[in-house]
Amino acid sequence: MSLAEDLLELAAATAREAARMLVGKRPADGPDVVQTKSSPTDVVTQMDRAAEALIIERITAARPDDAVLGEEGGTRPGGSGVRWVIDPIDGTVNYLYDLPDWAVSIAAEVDGVAVAGAVEIPRRGETYTAMRGGGALMHTASGTRELRVNSEVPLDRALVSTGFGYSAARRAGQARVLTGVLPAVRDIRRGGSCCVDLCSLAAGRTDAYYERGVQAWDVAAGALIVGEAGGRVEGLHGAPAGTELTIAAGPGTFEALHDVLARLDPLRD
Ligand code: IPD
Ligand code: CA
Ligand code: CA
Ligand code: CA
Repeated sequence: MSLAEDLLELAAATAREAARMLVGKRPADGPDVVQTKSSPTDVVTQMDRAAEALIIERITAARPDDAVLGEEGGTRPGGSGVRWVIDPIDGTVNYLYDLPDWAVSIAAEVDGVAVAGAVEIPRRGETYTAMRGGGALMHTASGTRELRVNSEVPLDRALVSTGFGYSAARRAGQARVLTGVLPAVRDIRRGGSCCVDLCSLAAGRTDAYYERGVQAWDVAAGALIVGEAGGRVEGLHGAPAGTELTIAAGPGTFEALHDVLARLDPLRD
């Protein structure tokens, strides 16, 4: 097996195990909020921490020299050139409310480039995987299928998903941008999990996605999955996708959404 195949196998198996734990051990009356971060709505539960601890334990047992970037603080250096980028629950607020769209997202980078990614969405019964240059796949109980984004969808017929950061100041700016995007598209979806949004785009269930302020752990696996499904994932004016703005869509649709967003000055609060 190649290094990327090894990394993908470990990513997918670990994401699946963590997701099983998150489903099986979710307290019936909901998880406890143990911390808030940037605002009172930016919550961390004991299950976010437990899932990240489990993932890091499995990865470091198998590959002790790798670096880790984990949302809940499990960041560590490594000497192998491989770095794991982990979001133990993407969609914590959905998990808190027992809404189904949350996921475990794990990507592996080699020398700074994502080569393998796995997103496990247990309440949908779906696992998404991608290997750089190897395409993107969706695995369910009824089989595995190769993913392809929708392309050349005119913007006024495009179903576009987005998300909002947790700070009130940032949200006011996001609401202003949304006011400009909404009349230009078929409709907007706010699902509550960035990596689920990206997997839905890769599967052709939506036509585009954009969001300001996402972090590496939100997008690392999902961006690889969209790219391998034929989509573009970039920032404004050719900048890399990232904390400023992330736009993802198939060819044709990408350019149209990009131009609408660029006119709306989306990095202004
Ligand atoms: C959040 C989700 C959400 C997005 C936020 C993220 P978390 O991640 O992906 O959809 O809009 O920007 O912070 O906190 O649930 O891991
Ligand atoms: Ca979070
Ligand atoms: Ca996240
Ligand atoms: Ca998270």
